Amino acid sequence: MQRGDNTLLITGGTRSIGRGRAERFHALGNRAIITARRQELLDDMATAHSGMIRIRADLRDAQSRAALYAQLPTITPSVNLLINNAGFESLLPGSTDFAVSRDIIKTNILSVLELRSRRAASSGISAHGSCGCSRSATLPHE
Ligand SMILES: NC(=O)c1ccc[n+]([C@@H]2O[C@H](COP(=O)([O-])OP(=O)(O)OC[C@H]3O[C@@H](n4cnc5c(N)ncnc54)[C@H](OP(=O)(O)O)[C@@H]3O)[C@@H](O)[C@H]2O)c1
Repeated sequence: MQRGDNTLLITGGTRSIGRGRAERFHALGNRAIITARRQELLDDMATAHSGMIRIRADLRDAQSRAALYAQLPTITPSVNLLINNAGFESLLPGSTDFAVSRDIIKTNILSVLELRSRRAASSGISAHGSCGCSRSATLPHE
């Protein structure tokens, strides 16, 4: 990976870990595309960091993921670094709330696997050059 000559897709790039990574990569001269659900936080990032591209997507939702993949080629011919960061870990030990578990699985696992598999396909997450993948989303503890 060349410093300052990359196009990155950073899911969950509006807060905490993802935001920090988006800001760092952007400051180094790379092209950062960030995703999240909340439009106002995406807009704040784009206002604060000129040239940063934002795409609203709910990665729990298959239609929203498909719309994200469909949009990427219209923005860039390839993404050479995919940072799968969107996710959460709010399931408390002993919780039996299956709806929360299902959301965690969709966000932290399914979307990560899907984005990884699509990076080599013709969706804009291309394997052009050296495409790296990074993941910070985790599974909840039992
Ligand atoms: N913080 C830690 O100590 C720690 C340690 C190990 C691993 N992790 C993992 O690292 C990841 C990031 O942690 P964090 O503490 O930085 O989390 P965070 O502050 O809650 O930020 C999560 C980011 O992901 C986005 N997001 C969440 N759900 C989403 C969804 N369904 N679709 C699209 N975007 C979504 C959020 O934006 P919206 O809410 O607007 O969508 C936000 O930008 C998580 O997966 C977490 O499990 C965190």
